[in-house]
Amino acid sequence: MKILDALNEQANFELESAYIYLGMSGYLADQDMNGMKHFMDMQAKEELEHAGKMIHFLQEVGYSVKYRSLNPGEADYSSILDVFEKAYAHEKVVTSNINKLVDLAREEDDKRVQSLLKWYVDEQVEEESNFASLITQLGRAGENWGALYQLDHAMGHRG
Ligand code: FEO
Repeated sequence: MKILDALNEQANFELESAYIYLGMSGYLADQDMNGMKHFMDMQAKEELEHAGKMIHFLQEVGYSVKYRSLNPGEADYSSILDVFEKAYAHEKVVTSNINKLVDLAREEDDKRVQSLLKWYVDEQVEEESNFASLITQLGRAGENWGALYQLDHAMGHRG
């Protein structure tokens, strides 16, 4: 069943997403934006949970999960806004991957995977919306450090 192999790859991609977001967290720490760093650490933690749900499912259906090496990305950012724009772009890739998985699960008429993926389809709406909103707020703050620190403070409260 190709869908389970594809799901295995997406589980790896979710782990890789955590890795990429940890790189972003490192950049934000270097910028002394500790609230934003916290936000990104929580994002990385969520990605581990996304991977974990898929891994658990695969193991429950008797699939032997395979792990590949993870690419941390370039972790080369030109500004705080650049970090969040790249995070948003990354989430769009995740959404596209999830949509392809939904198509494949339908093609193979795998109801179990279709049911699992419903959660991810909904989750991606939130993931994209979070980053889109932050980009808007960062754009408005511009070079105003007072506004940036206010945003940093608010982002430090992500649970
Ligand atoms: Fe696991 Fe941010 O998508």
